[in-house]
Formats: sequence, C-alpha cells, structure tokens
Amino acid sequence: MYLFQQAASLSRTLRAARQNQLSIGFVPTMGALHEGHLDLIRQAKKQYDRVICSIFVNPAQFNDPADLAKYPRTLEKDLEALALTGADYVYFPEVSDVYPPNSQPEKYPFGALETVLEGAHRPGHFEGVGMVVARLLRITVPNGLLLGEKDYQQCMVLQSLLKQMQWEQKVALHICPTRRESNGLAMSSRNQRLTEAGKKQAALLYEIIKSCQERYLQFSPDQLSDWAIHSLEAQGNIRVEYFSFADAQHLQPVQHWNESPAVRVLAAVWVEDVRLIDNALLF
Ligand code: PAF
Repeated sequence: MYLFQQAASLSRTLRAARQNQLSIGFVPTMGALHEGHLDLIRQAKKQYDRVICSIFVNPAQFNDPADLAKYPRTLEKDLEALALTGADYVYFPEVSDVYPPNSQPEKYPFGALETVLEGAHRPGHFEGVGMVVARLLRITVPNGLLLGEKDYQQCMVLQSLLKQMQWEQKVALHICPTRRESNGLAMSSRNQRLTEAGKKQAALLYEIIKSCQERYLQFSPDQLSDWAIHSLEAQGNIRVEYFSFADAQHLQPVQHWNESPAVRVLAAVWVEDVRLIDNALLF
C-alpha cells in the first residue's frame, strides 16, 4: 500500500495507472474507519483494478468548530485496517494540500437538495462536502466513486456534483448499503464517542425506522413522524433533530404517500451529545 500526503505525487501515480489501462475506484473518508468504510474498500476491490482511499477531516464541511475538534482521528489504526483490507493507495493530506493558499476552491450549488434535512440543520455543510469532493475527484480522476448509503443525502448531493462537473459518464457512482451493528445501530465514526449504554439507546432509532417501514400505510407521514419522535424521546436519552419522510431523489418532504414513487425515511438524533443520522427506503 502506497501512502501519499501530496496531491501532485498521487495524481502522477494514478495517471500512470490509468495509462497502463488500470481502472481506479475511489473511497473518500474522514478516517476513524469502521467496517462500513472497509465494505466500500472491499466493494471497490471487486470492481476496480486499483483502490484509492482518502482520509481527510475536511474543515469546510463542519459548521460547528466544536464538532470539528471532537471528530475522532485514528490515523495509525486506519492505515493498518486499510492495508489489511487491500487498499492500494492512501491519501492523507494536510489542509494546505487540499486547499492551497491563494487557490479558489470550486463551489457548486445543490439547490433544494441542500436546504432540507442535513442541509437545513448544518448550514454550509454540503457546500463544504462539494468543495472537497470536487477537489479530490480532480486529483484522483477515478472510474468509480464509492459512498455509503448511511449518508444518503450526501450521496444525492454528490450525484448532482458529478452531473454539474459533467463527469457522470466518466465516474460511476456506487451507493453501498449501510453496515449495522448486531443491534441495528448504523456504523458511524461518531459511534466511537458513545458509551456502551449510549450505543444500546441509539439502536432504538433503527427499531423505529423499521416500524415505519412496516406500518406506514396505516398513517399519514405527519402522524407517523409525530409517533416516531414521541417514541424516541420518551426513552429519555434521545433528542430528535428531525424525523422526516421525503421523496427519494430530491429529498423534499412528502405530506401524502402518493406524492412520490419512492419515499425514504431520514432522521438525525442526539444521544450523549453525539449527533447520529440514519435512513431507509420505505417504498
Ligand atoms: O462522508 C464523509 O466521510 C465525508 O463527508 C466525505 C465524503 C469524505 C467528504 O469529506
């Protein structure tokens, strides 16, 4: 496994691989890797000749400096896990390599996609995600981009980014299923900050999401989200930031089930001062 901290040398290496007709799968991460990330690496290995993973805690996507400061950083462990899983290249740059002084980062508008759900609660978050992923794509020029479904809204935003860059023919987007703990809790780097009790409490979120999948036809979207919020908060240790039903492509909230051919449930909750998100397809 080859390690890079400089975009210029990584780009040169990947260009040489492309010239040798080797396809490249790219897995962008912010580190603190878990099995969900490693699944993306495994999937990339199945589909591409070479796999590049980036580890970069992108300051531009944190609207809350305290959240950025608390984000877990476990570089040594991450590199070990990536080597064992079979990544070929890892890019773990300093901020100045991703955003060189005097350079103008590219900004893309994501319209209504960035004003709802995560976008509404984390202003500027998707602008920062778009900025860093555009930069990483230009450095790596991959054939495939692999993302986790847990961050479903991010997947839709990055699909729009590829379109706006006019790269959607050149880079295949793979959205890989959310990896869960045995109790259903979606794997997330942020789970590292939960106590064992917190992890148990947080598993209720997926229980409630599953109940919504089973019983949505008996209720309206508003009734069901009221019930879900009440059930989660009744537990005492969970605070719900949003619990919404939205059309699966544009993520606009639905008032009636027949407003969209595909609806997802998406939620953000706080447990022990840790913000967790999850989502699933209803139909
Ligand atoms: O999902 C993440 O870890 C980040 O948002 C990403 C895609 C690596 C961009 O910083």
